[in-house]
Amino acid sequence: MSETNEPRAQYGAAAWAHLTGQLPNPFPRTIGPNAMKYLQEIVDSGLTCGMIGRFEREFAKQYGVKHCIATPGCTPALAVLAAAFDFDHGDEIIVSPITDYGSIMGLYREGYIPVFPDTEPGTVNFSAETIEPCITDRTRAILCVHKTGIICDTDPISALAAEKGLVVYEDACQAVFGEYKGRFAGTLSLAGGFSFDSEKTMGSDVGGCVITDDDALAERMRYIGHSRGAISREHFGRVHKHAGYAYRMPECTAAICLAQLEIIREQVAHIDCVVRLMSELIAGIEGVTPLPIPEYMNVYSAWMFGMSIDPEQFTCDAESFGAQLAAEGIPGAGTGKYYLMPEACDFLKDDAAAKRFPFSMPPASREYTYGAQTTPTASAFLENWIRWSTFCEKYTEDDCHLAAAIVNRVAEKNRR
Ligand SMILES: Cc1ncc(COP(=O)(O)O)c(C=O)c1O
Repeated sequence: MSETNEPRAQYGAAAWAHLTGQLPNPFPRTIGPNAMKYLQEIVDSGLTCGMIGRFEREFAKQYGVKHCIATPGCTPALAVLAAAFDFDHGDEIIVSPITDYGSIMGLYREGYIPVFPDTEPGTVNFSAETIEPCITDRTRAILCVHKTGIICDTDPISALAAEKGLVVYEDACQAVFGEYKGRFAGTLSLAGGFSFDSEKTMGSDVGGCVITDDDALAERMRYIGHSRGAISREHFGRVHKHAGYAYRMPECTAAICLAQLEIIREQVAHIDCVVRLMSELIAGIEGVTPLPIPEYMNVYSAWMFGMSIDPEQFTCDAESFGAQLAAEGIPGAGTGKYYLMPEACDFLKDDAAAKRFPFSMPPASREYTYGAQTTPTASAFLENWIRWSTFCEKYTEDDCHLAAAIVNRVAEKNRR
């Protein structure tokens, strides 16, 4: 039980255990055929086969970047990245408002203040236009989250950042091997974070990583994130110059990640086809609008499928619509209101109201408020938005038709 007597949140297979339906459930996950071979190598070599390095090199190679720093998840990956930035306490980082707690935890623990712009109407991501009014003299970076696999329109954001002297980096957890104008999400900026948690498209247990071409940043991430900010001093031993982390990816996770990496590209190509088909089928249902897929996206690596309902056309709200979809056979269908970080992070509201660090003045430069009212477009969008995750590699064309038929049935049942 939590401190409020509400049940603790569940993750991974445990969160999916009770979900059944006519459509594929991502669990049990599909695991690459070489996983056991790689795990056996770790055991046979007595932990000397360097599996973490092998995974890092292979991931970097496939992404065409110089460095991959593997961690036990994306929450730690983005924490290591935030720790490697040399910003001051109270500096601001602009973050997409519709995301996961993992985008925020690390930067907040470093004493940086998350600032949430609103989203573009009709979608889940922010844009250069919605970001610009949020830039202050304390802004240092912009974190683009490619929510559901829809890649942010990053070029205008990078142009704005260059003009203002800001760093851009990405949370590509939900867009593994997705492509923007022929470039991979995660390579569109200084650095990109990934998650290989068991529910993600490249589900491998609790892994993650950061990729970058920046040699100095990569070195600093290894030092702060893997080596606990420690150097080796002659005649003494380890000296911790920085309050660093021991966020190294476990060898066994690296083995599974390596095996998953061998099958992911084919899975993503398949997901791209089925998500486009499903979007087309669902777009034909009156009152239901799938997430628009921008033309600049060559590959839509969808982690979840999302659609909005027009409240004018139905007698029920999105919560009830989603529950009916789940009851009719779409496992996990429901709203995603909790992705609204300005509303979901009670600790931000509480700390800002109490002016606790980093909101104490200084280092903060002004008063901060969090809550759904601060991002009204995103908040209103999520009220009428339904998604199901994980939109997995197991979907067939028939499954897309079945899902669309279920959506149609629920829509007709509730039509005004
Ligand atoms: C957008 C986004 N960022 C970060 C995370 C955190 O990843 P992890 O569970 O690997 O820490 C997630 C996981 O759901 C995510 O979806």
